[in-house]
Amino acid sequence: MVQVTPFLLMLSLALVASGFSVRKQCVLSGRWVNDLGSNMTIGAVNGKGEFTGSYHTAVTATRNEIQLSPLQGSQHRINNKGQPTFGFTVNWSFSDSITVFTGQCFVDENGKEVLKTMWLLRSHVDNINDDWKATRVGINVFTRLPSQK
Ligand code: BTN
Repeated sequence: MVQVTPFLLMLSLALVASGFSVRKQCVLSGRWVNDLGSNMTIGAVNGKGEFTGSYHTAVTATRNEIQLSPLQGSQHRINNKGQPTFGFTVNWSFSDSITVFTGQCFVDENGKEVLKTMWLLRSHVDNINDDWKATRVGINVFTRLPSQK
């Protein structure tokens, strides 16, 4: 027992020194990439859970040239176990469409943050008779990009 305690102490110090830590909180702010290769940047989340950011989609349902587009969203105030639910809207700068995303910010088994989302993309149609084909639905998974210094 007398020899075990110093060993555990040394092991703890070594793990701390090597930067070993398991993340518990998922934080929305930062740069993210999804499974399509789209990038987004989320700014600071304010006291009311609101945030803004920008989205660069890798794909488009239009023939237009892709441009950086603004997003606005909110995170649930009850940050349940550090894995909050959230939603945001992207108002596309280069098309007359809108996408709403809803999801949850998780910490996976390796301590990595992941955003599991579902989205609805509403495209503009000229005629009410085309309403039935105006909304697409899908899933995107986002992982954090390393912060730029
Ligand atoms: C448009 O085509 O009118 C706007 C761009 C839509 C891009 C969609 S939104 C859902 C999906 N996830 C992405 O990252 N990009 C596509």
